[in-house]
This record gives sequence, C-alpha cells and structure tokens, in this order.
Amino acid sequence: MVATVRTIAFQGVEVCPVDVQVQIASGMPAFTIVGLPDKAVAESKERVRSALHAMGISLPPKRLTVNLAPADVMKEGSHYDLPIALGLLAAMDIMPKEELADTIVLGELSLDATIRAVAGVLPAAIHAGSNDNKLICPGDCGGEAAWAGNIDILAPTNLLQLINHMKGTQVMGPPTPKLANDDMLHVPNLSSVKGQESAKRALEIAACGGHNLLMVGPPGSGKSMLASCLPGILPPLSPSEALEVSMIHSLAGTLPEGGLMKTRPYRDPHHSASLPALIGGGHKVKPGEISLAHRGVLFLDELPEFARSTLEAMRQPLETGETLVARANMHVKYPARFQLVAAMNPCRCGHLGAPDMECTKAPKCGTDYQAKLSGPLLDRIDLQVDVPPVSVADLSAQGGEDSAIVAARVARIRQIQENRYKSLTENGKIRMNADAGSELLEQVAPLDSAAKSVLDQAVERMNLSARSYFRLMRVARTIADMDGAPDTLSSAHIAEAISYKRLTYSRF
Ligand SMILES: Nc1ncnc2c1ncn2[C@@H]1O[C@H](COP(=O)(O)OP(=O)(O)O)[C@@H](O)[C@H]1O
Ligand SMILES: [Mg+2]
Repeated sequence: MVATVRTIAFQGVEVCPVDVQVQIASGMPAFTIVGLPDKAVAESKERVRSALHAMGISLPPKRLTVNLAPADVMKEGSHYDLPIALGLLAAMDIMPKEELADTIVLGELSLDATIRAVAGVLPAAIHAGSNDNKLICPGDCGGEAAWAGNIDILAPTNLLQLINHMKGTQVMGPPTPKLANDDMLHVPNLSSVKGQESAKRALEIAACGGHNLLMVGPPGSGKSMLASCLPGILPPLSPSEALEVSMIHSLAGTLPEGGLMKTRPYRDPHHSASLPALIGGGHKVKPGEISLAHRGVLFLDELPEFARSTLEAMRQPLETGETLVARANMHVKYPARFQLVAAMNPCRCGHLGAPDMECTKAPKCGTDYQAKLSGPLLDRIDLQVDVPPVSVADLSAQGGEDSAIVAARVARIRQIQENRYKSLTENGKIRMNADAGSELLEQVAPLDSAAKSVLDQAVERMNLSARSYFRLMRVARTIADMDGAPDTLSSAHIAEAISYKRLTYSRF
C-alpha cells in the first residue's frame, strides 16, 4: 500500500509542491529514500526510525520505500523528516490517511520525537493558504505560520502530541500570530554623535528617500557610529513589506524568535564576506546578505577592503532590485531591493589631506586606495559625503537631535512619497523616490528654469552618466520633499544634490 503526504521544496522564494510517497512491501527489510535527496534528507531515515522508536513504534521488517516526487527537483533541508514519519505512520495504519489529505507537512525530528523548527515555514504557510490546504509545522514556527491568514494550522511540539490530536484524544488549538521582539533598544542614538552636521544631513536624506550613501573620512571620525544610528531613524516595515521581508528571513532561517519582523533589516557583513555570502547561492542555495537586507539597509564598512569581485557582483542587483543565482539545473531568484550604506577611509593610512598626519606616499596612496572602487559602483552611489575629524569645539559641545525626532521627520517624508507613487503606479510597488524609474521621475520632478540650467552645467562639467543624472534627480526630489516643495524642483535642491557627487567628480 502507498501513503502520500504533501510537503514542499524551495526554489528561491518560490515554493514547489512535493509528494512524499511511502510504500511498505514484503521483501528483504530495507529503508530507502529516492527522489534526489541531499545529505540531510538521506539521513532523515535515521532520525525518523529513532523518533518512532522513542514512541514505542518500531518499523515493520519489510521493504520501506520513500519517494519524493517530482523526482527531478533537488530536495534540500531537514523539513522532510516529519512528512516521511507521517507517511510511514499512515502506511502502517497508525494515523488516519484522510486526515493528511490536503495538508502540507514540514518539520525536523529529534531522536526523542520532538519536532524541531525549520526554515521556510512562512512561505510554506502562504503557499498552503493560496491552495486551500492545511498546514502542519513545528510548534516553534507556529507564530510565524499563523500570519498566512485564514488556514488551518497545527503546530505540535512533538510527534506524540500530533498523533493524539489526529486520534482525537488530546486536541490542539491553532497557533497565534507572533511578532518578533526586534525593538531597537540596542541601536545608538543620533544625539550621541557630536558635530558631523553635513554627514547627519546626508544620512537623513538617505533615510528619507532610500538613497545609497558613502561616507569618506579619517579613522575615528564617527562613520561606523553614524551608520549604526540609521536603524533608529528608519520607519518600521509596512504590513505587506513585513511579510515580504519575513519570507526571505524565514527561508534563510534568520527570522528573529520565529515571529514576523517589524523593523527594517540592517545587515553589516564583515569585509571578508565571500561572494555567495553577499549575493546568495553557494553549496545550498540560500539568500545572501543583499537579500536579507531587502527593504532595509546593507552597511558595508571599510568598503575598499571588500573583494573587488564581490563588490562588482552587487552592481546588477543595485539596479534591478533582485538577484539571480544560476546553478547547473535551476535558476533561483531572490528579491534584493536594499539601500547601500558604505564607509571608507580616504587612503590606507586614513589621513589623506591632513598635512601633519598623512603618510609620505600621499597623494598616490589615496588614488590607489580609492581606485579599488570601480566607476560603475560609484556611479550607483547617490550621496557621497566627507566625514572630517571631529573638532575639539564639537567634542565638548552638546550632541545633536534625538533619533526619535529625526525618525518622525523621515516617516512623514516617506508617507509623502508613498502617497505620490500610489496614485501614479498601479501595483503600488514603488514607495520611495529611490525606486522611481526615469520616466516616472520626469513626471514627478519637474525643474524650474534656473534648476534646469544648474543641472545642465553640472552634467556637462562633471561628465555625469545618464544613470548619475537620474540618480541626482531622485536625490533632489527627496531634498525638495524634505523642504516642503511637493512640485517643482528649484536650483537649491539640485545644487545640494550635486554637492553629494564629489567623489565621482574628483576622480573622473
Ligand atoms: N562625531 C562623534 N561624536 C561622538 N563620538 C564619536 C564621534 N566620532 C567618533 N566617536 C567615538 O569614536 C568611536 C569610534 O568611531 P567610529 O564611528 O568607529 O569611527 P570610524 O569613522 O573610524 O568608523 C565611537 O565609538 C565613538 O565613541
Ligand atoms: Mg569604522
């Protein structure tokens, strides 16, 4: 007899249905799993055997065959334990087969029959919801699955609890939706950063419009500190964004406490990060840092220290907002609409331009160091600011504005942008100035005549590329929004936006 249990395989954020077919036939005792299982899936038979044994159930001394269909999709991960165990129990008539029809099952088993948390429960729950299926998932992931809406969910903590529920002896209640406790208590306050008014202004512009930002300055001037204040001034995720972002984190297994995220992701990988770690892919296809930073911030400290190939690989996702990981037998797409914030020293010794401190190789050491960043990458960074050393006067002065005040301003400007683009685009995918395409931008950012002539001159003198031109307009649009000018851009807005293009200008 064959028992079938439904589960899923992941291909990027896409979910592919998988049937676990279990057959018990007479013959030499054996237990085989077929259907392109990876190592974790192949080892699942030992966990399943022990978990059943822990409940006093031993597998029949027969030929047990588990087929994971479709056979040509690679099955990765540990979430196949539970469906395989339930399939065996159904084939052994311990569990009613009809209870498992139209139910998607995923979970990992411990040797003592506890059901352990697995990655990807949220996308699985959403898939189950859109196909009118029920879901059985680990108890620890119930709070995550419950966000999928109106579906029947069982979130048992161990196999015995599930069997008792199915037999009606001990009925479980549905799990309740859980929010991650990702409050920003640990985030430094902007008021602790002294001086650096122009860098703070650039940080606020970047936060308002979602623009990319590069801070250049000597060591100890507060670049890393400024960047670490950024999560404290960004608005929280909207409900639809929270679901979108949590899906990716669920797949990567990084969802904080198994609940839906409400704060924007802020990822700061070390500069030794490899290309797959940053972009995605690797042995097991997993979302990279740029996807984990989707709808949030990717902070790259000491930018020139990153491997060149890693930085160049970010060029395409920076434009398209998604990354495509190609493997021999499949292509996997992950969303990656992130805001890039980076910091660097002006040269290797860090003191280029400070006459009493710079090294003997200046200015060559500076040009060499900055040349590690390619033109195309710099072209994609809209705001480039100098972060000079903090003066003694600033150090002894009071700190600046509190993060909460800045955050309120940022939230208001984000709302203005959202309202603007909601009426102009159908699907509401564009929410910030940084996301607006060039045609849309021309529509929402008309220039007055003085602004036009300033822009034309700048394009000519600075040899700006078409991309830089539109990026500059986006920044100017944000500056105008912050200035309370909802329609036409003035020359002051354009001039300020141009002032943030200094690195590109000095190098090319
Ligand atoms: N503008 C500043 N205001 C207050 N403290 C600062 C400032 N700049 C640097 N510091 C102090 O110096 C430390 C190192 O600053 P950091 O941001 O790491 O410098 P870097 O520019 O090298 O990244 C901070 O933790 C902070 O204590
Ligand atoms: Mg630093």
